[in-house]
Amino acid sequence: MVKICCIGAGYVGGPTMAVIALKCPSVEVVVVDISAPRIAAWNSDHLPIYEPGLDDVVKECRGRNLFFSTDVEKHVAEADIVFVSVNTPTKTRGLGAGKAADLTYWESAARMIADVSKSDKIVVEKSTVPVKTAEAIEKILTHNSKGINYQILSNPEFLAEGTAIKDLFNPDRVLIGGRETPEGQKAIQALADVYGQWVPKERILATNLWSAELSKLAANAFLAQRISSVNAMSALCEATGADVSQVSYAVGTDTRIGPKFLNASVGYGGSCFQKDILNLVYICECNGLPEVANYWKQVIQINDYQKSRFVNRVVSSMFNTVSGKKIAVLGFAFKKDTGDTRETPAIDVCKGLLGDNARLSIYDPQVNEDQIQRDLTMKKFDWDHPTHLQPMSPTSLKQVSVVWDAYEATKDAHGVCILTEWDEFKGLDFQKIYDNMQKPAFIFDGRNIVNAEKLREIGFIVYSIGKPLDKWLKDMPAVA
Ligand code: NAI
Repeated sequence: MVKICCIGAGYVGGPTMAVIALKCPSVEVVVVDISAPRIAAWNSDHLPIYEPGLDDVVKECRGRNLFFSTDVEKHVAEADIVFVSVNTPTKTRGLGAGKAADLTYWESAARMIADVSKSDKIVVEKSTVPVKTAEAIEKILTHNSKGINYQILSNPEFLAEGTAIKDLFNPDRVLIGGRETPEGQKAIQALADVYGQWVPKERILATNLWSAELSKLAANAFLAQRISSVNAMSALCEATGADVSQVSYAVGTDTRIGPKFLNASVGYGGSCFQKDILNLVYICECNGLPEVANYWKQVIQINDYQKSRFVNRVVSSMFNTVSGKKIAVLGFAFKKDTGDTRETPAIDVCKGLLGDNARLSIYDPQVNEDQIQRDLTMKKFDWDHPTHLQPMSPTSLKQVSVVWDAYEATKDAHGVCILTEWDEFKGLDFQKIYDNMQKPAFIFDGRNIVNAEKLREIGFIVYSIGKPLDKWLKDMPAVA
């Protein structure tokens, strides 16, 4: 029986390993983590992350060939294949601070593998890492090898949160990079055999190590760039009377461009896009390519611009001040169908509104009050350092209340900001919401999910990103 151990039971390690265990009953999979509460949650009825379909997969395999444990060293020692799926946050201090990836967790995992191993191993980079990390890992392992052979593979993960199980069941591709030596090729084949149990052969791509590492950063940069491109267009649409949905539909029907990932919004979020682009920018700078670095930096700048543009629109529409006004925030997660709030645009929007002294009433179906308070008090980048290592801020934001119901959040509010595209928001009784709000009642739809015309008929003043503006909004121009 092949034994797999995955270090890191997070958004990637947990679902990825659960699907491997489901699809490969003859493989034993153990997911290990230094966070005891996280492992306890994986072993309970309340998994530590919300992901559609995940519960069923875990229930089917847990205790059969899928295990979660804090005994990191034992399971690493016993494994044939060790995945490393630890977090790789942006460095907050020292060389490359604010841009470079912090490989502290990765390096300590690699040193631990070297310490405890007694048999040959394939070590798989699952985390997103800077190109050439495999070389550093190889050095750590071989300099401490005690005669053990290690093969390093890069197998970046392309799943998207919210659709992780679907993506893992049916990936566009599985990418495996390895050394171009007979041993390297053998290791690639061993990992391809695992995926080959459910992924069609032609979708399993083998490359050299550096191509695999860089492809992940490139893919995230391209995806984020598409969002920033359409968001940049949304600003121009508002200024000219064009409708961004019509523009992106027209653009996306060109088969060279394609229709996906062209929705204008308040901005992208999530743990990866910003971190990976910053990392790419840093790598370009280190390789003497400042023009390339600046090109990618713009993708982040447009994203920041889009968030502040949204806040400015809210404030300017409401007579240039939201001081003391109640603003309902519907949605806090960075996208629907996840409870993940890392780098969610809601953080910057809420902070912007709080900066103008608004009172916020926040509702998200999957994010609890503790998380929201922590996010709003945290410094940028703190979020990507494990919470068990983080001092909890005792500060409770007096201007923020978190409720468990959209109607409660919007009651007596002056304005509503929709910041996550949860399906349930589309079905709300907006007449009831309108009746219980202060007048004039505003809706700022940061995800373009509500029917603006219907809401206008009710009496709302509606702002939809990139859409022709209401007369009211035209008369109250936002200063970007
Ligand atoms: P996460 O923060 O949810 O999970 C990482 C886990 O690793 C934490 O539970 C932490 O306690 C554990 N850990 C850290 N050091 C450890 C050690 N030495 N021994 C044992 N456990 C340790 O992170 P997430 O989101 O799963 O991301 C992991 C990697 O995958 C990152 O590099 C990320 O960029 C990449 N990635 C993330 C995607 C996502 O959608 N979240 C998608 C694709 C890649």
